[in-house]
Amino acid sequence: MRRPKISIIGAGNVGATCAHWILSAELADVILLDIPELTVKDKDGNDTRVPNTMPAGKALDLYESSPICGSDCKLVGTSDYAQTANSDVVIVTAGIPRKPGMSRDDLIATNTKIVGEVAEKVGKASPNTVMIVVSNPLDAMVYVAWKKSGLPTHRVIGQAGVLDTARYRSFLAEEVGCSVEDVQALLLGGHGDDMVPLARYTFAGGIPITQLVKPERLAQIIQRARDGGAEIVKLLRTGSAYYAPAAATVQMAEAIIKDKKRILPAAAYCTKEYGVGGYFVGVPAILGSNGVEKVLEIELDANEKKALDTSVQHVKDLVAAVKL
Ligand code: NAI
Ligand code: 2OP
Repeated sequence: MRRPKISIIGAGNVGATCAHWILSAELADVILLDIPELTVKDKDGNDTRVPNTMPAGKALDLYESSPICGSDCKLVGTSDYAQTANSDVVIVTAGIPRKPGMSRDDLIATNTKIVGEVAEKVGKASPNTVMIVVSNPLDAMVYVAWKKSGLPTHRVIGQAGVLDTARYRSFLAEEVGCSVEDVQALLLGGHGDDMVPLARYTFAGGIPITQLVKPERLAQIIQRARDGGAEIVKLLRTGSAYYAPAAATVQMAEAIIKDKKRILPAAAYCTKEYGVGGYFVGVPAILGSNGVEKVLEIELDANEKKALDTSVQHVKDLVAAVKL
């Protein structure tokens, strides 16, 4: 039986950590792709171009761990898109991460170019794939990737909501003093700062969170989840989060590869849904082998609708700024 194939474009922190999670779960064979050349200093201190062997090094290192983790997945590091051909899932993490003091939106010009070029090549090499976009600013990059790849809207998805919800769930579990497994939550809208938490749809062991956590404390926890990315950037000093983002991305990939029909918060293309009108926005979606199989519309009260509209407006402003 053919093992599923996942290609990861961008073999940096998030990309390589995705490969690690995929290998540990024995989910799929992995192609880890990065740029073909790097600039390094020669012995006289001058810039010189050398082949980028980093993805091959990471793939080999991970493969050598496979007898220990008991996983028979194959891993290849490359810069050649031919090796990614006919991938079941392609994860796009190519681009630059933010540095302390930068917002996700500060990455827009550089990452639009990178993600656009990558998506074109992905669309040609794997015309039937499901593409999960991770590069930031996420809500704009998923739009760029869709436009440039030629893939249908349901086969392009952005990862943000699973990560933001995981942060929120972790902090809530700590507050309640319960297992993280028992906290269920739902967030809508854009990534991070822009997310729209829905306290009404948040539960610990089936009990509404509002019965377990006081409103002012809940507001602090929501703010910490919103700022979750910046908190890690500040602590790391170089680069941004990657363990939780990669785990979130691989959970989405697993839902697609195994056709699990999981309901996960994902940046999915919405037209009539929530009155969005043709943008990728964080919504609860059913993920299966066809990608986004359904966007679930839930009832929102006036405050929740207002917060979602503000978040969607920011997504629209970001997309306007990419100038495709
Ligand atoms: P990183 O710098 O460790 O890795 C990025 C990799 O992309 C580098 O190896 C680089 O060589 C590669 N790359 C650049 N241009 C490329 C191209 N044209 N083709 C192939 N590869 C290319 O960065 P990290 O930490 O892995 O983050 C990657 C992106 O993901 C950033 O934009 C970051 O902001 C974003 N991110 C998004 C999250 C989300 O929840 N949506 C969470 C965490 C990171
Ligand atoms: C995060 O939320 C950087 O978007 C990334 O950690």
